Amino acid sequence: MTISTYESVYINAFGTPSLVLDHGQGVHVWDTEGKKYLDLLAGIAVNALGYADQAMARAITDQVSKLSHVSNFFTTEPQINLAKKLVELLVSEGGRPGKVFLANSGTEANEGAMKLAMLHKPGGKIVALEGAFHGRTLGALSITHKPAIREPFGQIPGCEFIVPEVEALAGLGDDVAAIFLEPIQGERGVMPLSEEFLQEARATADRIGALLVVDEIQTGMGRTGRWFAHTASVQADVITLAKGLGGGMPIGAIIATGEAANLFTPGSHGSTFGGNPVAAAAALAVLDRITELLPHVGDMGEWIMGELNAAGFEVRGRGLLLGVTVNDAPGLVTELRKAGFIVNATGPDTLRLAPPLIISRDEFAPFVQALSELRK
Ligand SMILES: Cc1ncc(COP(=O)(O)O)c(C=O)c1O
Repeated sequence: MTISTYESVYINAFGTPSLVLDHGQGVHVWDTEGKKYLDLLAGIAVNALGYADQAMARAITDQVSKLSHVSNFFTTEPQINLAKKLVELLVSEGGRPGKVFLANSGTEANEGAMKLAMLHKPGGKIVALEGAFHGRTLGALSITHKPAIREPFGQIPGCEFIVPEVEALAGLGDDVAAIFLEPIQGERGVMPLSEEFLQEARATADRIGALLVVDEIQTGMGRTGRWFAHTASVQADVITLAKGLGGGMPIGAIIATGEAANLFTPGSHGSTFGGNPVAAAAALAVLDRITELLPHVGDMGEWIMGELNAAGFEVRGRGLLLGVTVNDAPGLVTELRKAGFIVNATGPDTLRLAPPLIISRDEFAPFVQALSELRK
């Protein structure tokens, strides 16, 4: 009944949803029929603190009861504090100091980063990687690789793709304004870029005078056991964030460093809701908790890899963003859901795991057993 109502009133952009979810607690969610699931997807790498985190709930309700929105004619303490915090986190991992613009989603953060590239080198090309996913609005979609989702809508002139291999970078010249990359290509199936490629992308951007834009929307804010997945390898000029930053509240961010921090001037960019104090207050509460969780995320990621390897599975990724190679991933997603586990398939042979960062060994262990029993 409820799903058939969805089908009659909701635009069919996602196919028919498999569940109507009602509430959550910690790493579990319940559907409207009362069935409980272990959530190993966390709203696709969003619900960093799982469900019903009390500190986050308090931050949101306190802020709503004080001030829920102001226009961009004014600012608020959560907006300022969040921008300051993001820059501090970047610098704490060896990144360059910068400035922040707050948006409402990942795709919007990437739109802003593309506009920075256009101001950095007017008329320059924007180069992204095969397998990239940067979002669904028309700019970000132009650098999202999958033809089936991009081609019906055309492409902004000057956007191009290269294969994520070092040799391909050698072909880039000074007509390129920016190179966009994800340190781990999540939607491609959790494919980490090689250390060598990251280093060479930085060297290439320097050689041709392009911005290196690192999309940390899926990988950032603790997901890989660090604040940023790229900082262990390279420094970026521009970084985009969303997903886990708000722990479930809609928020995105651009961190622009060096000269890129001053490319926007009044009138260049804007957003009614970007920098919203409720979303910013939630993000501050989430970041506080992630500070305590970072070592746990690294340890859990290694433990999970060890357990799945011992059960005979090939696993890639870092921290709590993992891709598991299986036969018939879509079929397994359905079987696992029946067994009470939420995961997703990024392709025919990859299951993506991106659980809440709070997950414990005891909570995860039943999944290893279920996966071993259900594998084909
Ligand atoms: C790496 C990456 N960039 C951008 C996006 C787009 O973010 P949003 O859906 O918030 O617009 C996503 C979403 O999956 C993503 O994984």
